[in-house]
Amino acid sequence: MRTPQIFYPFGSAAADSINPASDDGSSSVITLLSPFLFFGRTYQRIYVNNNGDLTFSQAFSQYVPYSFPANGSQDIIAGLWTDLNNGVTGVISYHQYTTGSVLTRATQDINTYFPNLPFTASWVFVATWDKVPYLSSTETSFQVVLISGSNYSFILMNYGNIAATGRSVEAGYDTISSTNYFVIPESNSGSSVSHLNTSSNINVPGRWVFRVDGGPKNSIVRVNVVGIHVRFESVLNPTESGNAEIIIQQIKQELCKRGLPSDVNLTFRKVQKINP
Ligand SMILES: *[C@@H]1O[C@H](CO)[C@@H](O)[C@H](O)[C@H]1NC(C)=O
Ligand SMILES: *[C@@H]1O[C@H](CO)[C@@H](O)[C@H](O)[C@H]1NC(C)=O
Ligand SMILES: *[C@@H]1O[C@H](CO)[C@@H](O)[C@H](O)[C@H]1NC(C)=O
Repeated sequence: MRTPQIFYPFGSAAADSINPASDDGSSSVITLLSPFLFFGRTYQRIYVNNNGDLTFSQAFSQYVPYSFPANGSQDIIAGLWTDLNNGVTGVISYHQYTTGSVLTRATQDINTYFPNLPFTASWVFVATWDKVPYLSSTETSFQVVLISGSNYSFILMNYGNIAATGRSVEAGYDTISSTNYFVIPESNSGSSVSHLNTSSNINVPGRWVFRVDGGPKNSIVRVNVVGIHVRFESVLNPTESGNAEIIIQQIKQELCKRGLPSDVNLTFRKVQKINP
C-alpha cells in the first residue's frame, strides 16, 4: 500500500535511526536535541518502544496495554500500544529534526490546527512503525510526531493501515497519576481499532493532534471554540435536581469524542426554562 500523505518522511528515505528487530524490544536511550515539555515535566530523553509507545524514563517492554487513566507512575504516549513484533517483519524507526522542511511542515500543521497560537516549530521528533505485524499476523503502520517550539508542545498521530485484532490495544496518552490523559475513541478495542485511520479530532482522516505542554489552555476545544450551540432532546428535565449532572456527562461524552481531553470539568452556569 502507498504511504498515506499525512505521514511525515520516515525510513531510509529520511535517514532514520532504526530500532533493533526484537519482540518487545525498544530503541536505546535517545537524547533529545531540545527538551520536550509534557504536561509540566521537561524531558531530555526518550525511548521508542517496539510495542507502539514512547516513554521518557526507561524502556518499556509491556505488550498488554493498561487502560488510561491508569493513575500510574510514568508518562506514556501510545501511538498504538499493543503486541507488535518487528522481529517478524516491518521497521520501527525515528528521527529528530532541528532544521529543514520537516520543521516547516510541522509549523504549518500546528498553525492550521491552532490558529490562535503564535507557533513556530524548533524541534520535531518522528517515530514510525512501518508495516509491523501484531505478533505474527497483519501489518500495521502509524507514526507519532512530537513537535515543540517556544514553550508549546504537541503530539501528532498519523494512522495508515491499521488491521483489526483480537488483542488488547490502546492509543492516546497518560501521565503520572493520570493528571492528564486521552484515549482516542474506539482505540481501546481491537475489533474497532481500524477506525483510527479514518477518525480525527481536526478533520483530517487518520490524524489526531494534541497540545501537551500543559499550558493554561491545553485543549483544542478551549483554544479554538469560544462558544458552542447544542441542541439535544432529553426526557430529563434539566431544571430538576440531579438531572443537570446526567445531561452534562452526556454532553461531555460527545465533546470527548471530538477531542476534548477527558479530564476537563464541565458545569452549567445557568439553566433556564424558557418554554412550557
Ligand atoms: C492513585 O494512586 C495513588 C498512589 O498510588 C493513590 O493514593 C490514589 O488514591 C490513587 N487515585 C485513584 C483515583 O485511584
Ligand atoms: C518559556 O517559559 C519560561 C518560564 O515560564 C519563560 O521564562 C520563557 O520566557 C518562555 N519562553 C518563550 C520563548 O516563550
Ligand atoms: C485502514 O486500515 C485497514 C486495515 O489495514 C485498511 O484495509 C484500510 O484500507 C485502511 N483505510 C485507510 C483510509 O487507510
